[in-house]
Amino acid sequence: MKIKNICCIGAGYVGGPTMAVIAAKCPEVNVTVVDLNAARIDAWNDADLSKLPVYEPGLDKIVEEARGRNLFFSTQVEEAISKAEMIFISVNTPTKTYGSGKGQAADLKYIELCARQIAAVSTTNKIVVEKSTLPVRTAEAIKSILDNTGNGVQFQVLSNPEFLAEGTAVADLLQPDRVLIGGEQTPEGKIAIQALVDVYASWVPAEKILTTNLWSSELSKLTANAFLAQRVSSINSISELCEKTGANVSEVARAIGMDSRIGPKFLSASVGFGGSCFQKDILNLVYIARSYGLAEVADYWEQVILMNDHQKNRFAKKIVRELYNTISGKKIIFLGWAFKKDTNDTRESAAIYVANLLLQEQAELAIYDPQVSEKQIKSDLTLYTDLDADVIANRVHVYKNTDNLFEAAHAIAVLTEWDEFKTYDWATIYKQVTKPAFVFDGRNILSKHELIEFGFKYFAIGS
Ligand code: UDX
Ligand code: UDX
Ligand code: ADP
Repeated sequence: MKIKNICCIGAGYVGGPTMAVIAAKCPEVNVTVVDLNAARIDAWNDADLSKLPVYEPGLDKIVEEARGRNLFFSTQVEEAISKAEMIFISVNTPTKTYGSGKGQAADLKYIELCARQIAAVSTTNKIVVEKSTLPVRTAEAIKSILDNTGNGVQFQVLSNPEFLAEGTAVADLLQPDRVLIGGEQTPEGKIAIQALVDVYASWVPAEKILTTNLWSSELSKLTANAFLAQRVSSINSISELCEKTGANVSEVARAIGMDSRIGPKFLSASVGFGGSCFQKDILNLVYIARSYGLAEVADYWEQVILMNDHQKNRFAKKIVRELYNTISGKKIIFLGWAFKKDTNDTRESAAIYVANLLLQEQAELAIYDPQVSEKQIKSDLTLYTDLDADVIANRVHVYKNTDNLFEAAHAIAVLTEWDEFKTYDWATIYKQVTKPAFVFDGRNILSKHELIEFGFKYFAIGS
């Protein structure tokens, strides 16, 4: 079976870049990305490529190549579903904020809405692909809705988890470590799997395309993110021990990373991991384990989150302690707000958590991030903290660039590892700030030796 028309529901961080790359690499396939959010679709269609709603290095070029040729962004959800043989579901699945599983389980209401819409509109057979991260066995639920509310057409549900990391999405999509496709092990299921394999085979080597049953595919996504997050929490736990003992976490990471069984990647100690996936997926894993009565498994993975909360907390407390246990009215600079460099995404960013704790101590925050807007920062603080509106309005100052940022600051905290922070003229900055001058490097990106020479009191993570 040859796919000619693909529809993707959800034009976000996953749907947008993934479909742009599929369209660029498969010029014979028409790809339509739909979203209910008209402003988002307008931004994807903006002639000015710097206005795309997702910032990713290289994405503008890919969109420019395919948009209008075989890549379309639209709010006409039903029309796009109706035309397509293959439909990707790429809508958001936030952690539930209400009811049973609140704070842990994934909220599947958007997924269910999509399934019902697909069932209502379809008059020809469809392959439905889960792209969003979902709890294990969601495919079964989708299939049940499709089969019981549809117009008698055949649906095949596939799981095709996304492994791209933000900031490197385009590179990860062009050269993935692997593509994973799960589906039913029936003749019809195998035909559907092969149809999706053929799409990826346009640019991904065959040996990197894995096919499994549905549940293995769904569980692999949660497990991959849980292992990755666990590495960060593991090295972060060692960073605290390093600070007590005189060991240096970078030296430890280098030494253990040379063991080929451990490997060197993903061992940077930091102020804590963020992003839309790690916490959500682990909470999901914990919830699923608990729902099967596996208390030890649930507790084991939950500790990865608890350690991450501790790391964020510890960073904020250290700032307060070093600034003589009072930061009331003091100007503290945040370099970075995004959850990692090279993205404008702020979901679960450690910066939000640290800012909350410092604002509770009545600090004045001066925040600069090269890609995050004032509106986004204030919205994060409004939605994800209990701070009063007047605190957010009056004590949070967002800068568009570094002009006057450093004047009379009591401390500088690095929250995101943007490359440009390394190139700043730190000798001049030293002259502008209040003395003693403190730098808290939550990403270990600045030169300790240089900063101390200029006169700063410099604090890294894990040394
Ligand atoms: C992650 C997975 O890597 C990706 O495969 C999956 O599809 C989605 O979730 P993402 O969240 O975009 O991707 O970024 P990632 O590079 O994994 O970083 C997550 C967080 O961990 C960031 O806050 C990052 O700063 C932090 N991190 C990562 C560290 O603190 N130290 C490290 O060594 C690596
Ligand atoms: C370990 C370290 O590997 C070695 O570097 C260190 O110097 C001493 O401790 P060892 O205990 O001899 O070496 O064997 P290892 O191969 O690490 O296995 C340890 C245990 O883990 C064994 O019981 C092994 O069966 C088990 N294991 C290992 C697993 O159950 N699964 C695995 O994937 C790997
Ligand atoms: P992700 O990181 O998973 O891509 P985003 O929040 O960036 O998450 O993107 C998800 C997108 O899905 C949002 O733009 C949202 O408007 C869209 N969306 C959610 N539900 C629906 C739906 N039923 N139909 C169309 N679009 C939807």
